[in-house]
Amino acid sequence: MTAALNKDTRNTWHILGPGAIGCLFACHLQQAGLAVRLIGRRPEHGVRRIRLNTDNGEQEQVFAPDHPAQPITHLLITVKAHQTTAALQAVRQRLTAQTLIVLMQNGMGTWQALQDLPTRRIVVATTTEGAHRPAADRVIHAGRGETWVGTLDPRYQADAARVCRDWSATGLVVEEDPEILHRLWQKLAINCAINPLTVLYDCPNGALLNNTEALELMQQVCREVEQVMGSALGEKPSGLFELAKAVSAKTSSNISSMLQDVRKQQQTEIDHITGYLLDQARRLGIACPCNERILKQIKAR
Ligand code: PAF
Repeated sequence: MTAALNKDTRNTWHILGPGAIGCLFACHLQQAGLAVRLIGRRPEHGVRRIRLNTDNGEQEQVFAPDHPAQPITHLLITVKAHQTTAALQAVRQRLTAQTLIVLMQNGMGTWQALQDLPTRRIVVATTTEGAHRPAADRVIHAGRGETWVGTLDPRYQADAARVCRDWSATGLVVEEDPEILHRLWQKLAINCAINPLTVLYDCPNGALLNNTEALELMQQVCREVEQVMGSALGEKPSGLFELAKAVSAKTSSNISSMLQDVRKQQQTEIDHITGYLLDQARRLGIACPCNERILKQIKAR
């Protein structure tokens, strides 16, 4: 089934970074009746077709081309963390003081890099939806999850609530989280514990659980991350090792996003995962020798 182009562009969502997650949200938002435009690395002149596979079968969505002169009212950023500054540079002149931005990506540290944009209306989101893109025009919704939206600046709380209201029409589970910083840290902690290790041992997430050496390393990583996270948030988080093992088991056949990048010979997100952790550790005066070593090993590859 092919969905018709949506003509109502008053509240258009522009998706900056139409990879697996960007396309998944683009298809769901357009299916829910919102106008959506995709902004890729190269300008596209014709319509763009994307086939979305879900439990209910396949649906093709047709996206109208993005007009580079059209101001952007709603922007969902799903580019990789290290691509954020360059990707935003390309659309910067289309942003206004009213533009509402949702930042949804792995890793941390890019919110701070958005501070000089014309708009202050920036909310953050994190998702456990599973998606992959076997071809440029095809997205598989591999696992249903949840999306949490919140703000790091309480003045824009109403914007987070509005995004949740609009996105709930997609049928995806989208909830507001007043403690979004805590949730971002938790995702970062899981990524620190799993992603670089899958690169070092060149294995799917679940294989880490059958490897005594990898498990020992994961435990050391988790101990250090707990200290930094606890100090950054002013609380004493515990049970990270158990959580990391549970996520590895639940996603056992997944090739982590970092290992996928390495296999495609693309830049990894290590600077915004372990690198961000180490920046915070330095700021807080906490030694993290194990994570330091891992960062060096991943960067040396
Ligand atoms: O980055 C990833 O791959 C994922 O966040 C996770 C949870 C490690 C599962 O593969």
